Amino acid sequence: MKLWDKGTGPDAKTDRFTVGHDRELDLVLAVYDIRASRAHARMLGEIGLLTAAETRDLVRELDLLEREAEAGRFTIEPEFEDMHSKIEYLLTEKLGDAGKKIHTARSRNDQVLVALQLYLKAELEGLQGRVKALFDLLMDQAEAHKGVLLPGYTHLQIAMPSSFGLWFSAYAESLIDDMYMLQAACRVADQNPLGSAAGYGSSFPIDRDFTTRELGFSALKVNVVAAQMGRGKVERATATALSAVAATLGKLAMDVCLYMSQNFGFISFPDRLTTGSSIMPHKKNPDIFELIRGKCNLLQGVPGQLALLTTNLPSGYHRDLQLTKEVLLPAVESLKACLEMAMESLREAQVRGDILDDPKYDYLFSVDALNQLVNDGVPFRDAYRQMAASIADGSYKPLKSASHTHQGSLGNLCLDRIREKMEEALRAT
Ligand code: ARG
Repeated sequence: MKLWDKGTGPDAKTDRFTVGHDRELDLVLAVYDIRASRAHARMLGEIGLLTAAETRDLVRELDLLEREAEAGRFTIEPEFEDMHSKIEYLLTEKLGDAGKKIHTARSRNDQVLVALQLYLKAELEGLQGRVKALFDLLMDQAEAHKGVLLPGYTHLQIAMPSSFGLWFSAYAESLIDDMYMLQAACRVADQNPLGSAAGYGSSFPIDRDFTTRELGFSALKVNVVAAQMGRGKVERATATALSAVAATLGKLAMDVCLYMSQNFGFISFPDRLTTGSSIMPHKKNPDIFELIRGKCNLLQGVPGQLALLTTNLPSGYHRDLQLTKEVLLPAVESLKACLEMAMESLREAQVRGDILDDPKYDYLFSVDALNQLVNDGVPFRDAYRQMAASIADGSYKPLKSASHTHQGSLGNLCLDRIREKMEEALRAT
């Protein structure tokens, strides 16, 4: 059924091409379209475009539909173009004229807009919870292994002493930046666009503040054209936030892959979290982290895809915008899966305690030894040359004390300050 069917229309091929993947993707959004429809019906009742009885009937049916959708039982058959058509069909079948009135003063353009924004708000909030959980896990691991030293690298060459405390809590603190990005995207999504209708408002005296309150948005996207222009923009803000999390997670995954290699051998995982080879019986491969790395790399392309899709579109609705869902919805799921598997694995990370006993890591301490000379009164550059000479003639002896005391160093991780920063970020929302 097409809402806009006038007796003539596109053939099956055109229909297939234009509907695309909407029937599957709209299943994810349907519950939000239903909630927005209920708010719209209540508002129509408030302004007298629906009778009290019609409003009550619509709200009742939409409550029932909401429960069906929440239970995963909402379906879109091939005869329907999208979730909007199916919802209106079901309401009309049940209620007759009241169902036919639900579309008064709205358009599918603002239906999909409001549904997407409600969906993105919910997902961005869920992602904040997942990021916080990973943060907590990393902080616990940092605490548990704060005394275990690790080589620090620059250019992938042995550089300075680091520690598992420093390494785990580095990724934790990095996630706070990503939390700011998720919150910013959430704020962009948290503005009610409903009532922009096709993109230019309506000649009915709709009450957009009413639907803003009803749907729990913090603000109204006031200007109807600005509201419509939010399509694409909210998706891009979200994708940017997802890609920030992905960048952190992807780098962490890369470190893990490296550290699991026998040439490093810093970290290992129980068998249930590694995979084998069909030919090499000794293998314990880091496939989880390789896939996290790969997926996170792909996720970082999503803002670019959405930018290409929406750049140079003039104001107003365009069907191109339908494709934002194809890119963004799977990206949200992919990031959730990556966060989940990262949690699952990192919880059971086993760290090696004697890494620095290997003499190849002795040079990690050259700067600390040099600094000791500076403490004894030798000017830095002279101490540097002295140390370089002792390394060259083989007389260098490492001072493996690694006594770093300043804020944020391996001897003074300030985990409480990092925790407080995260708490503050969460309080701000
Ligand atoms: N499936 C469309 C989308 O996601 C819904 C809006 C369709 N509007 C239209 N004028 N054809 O953008």
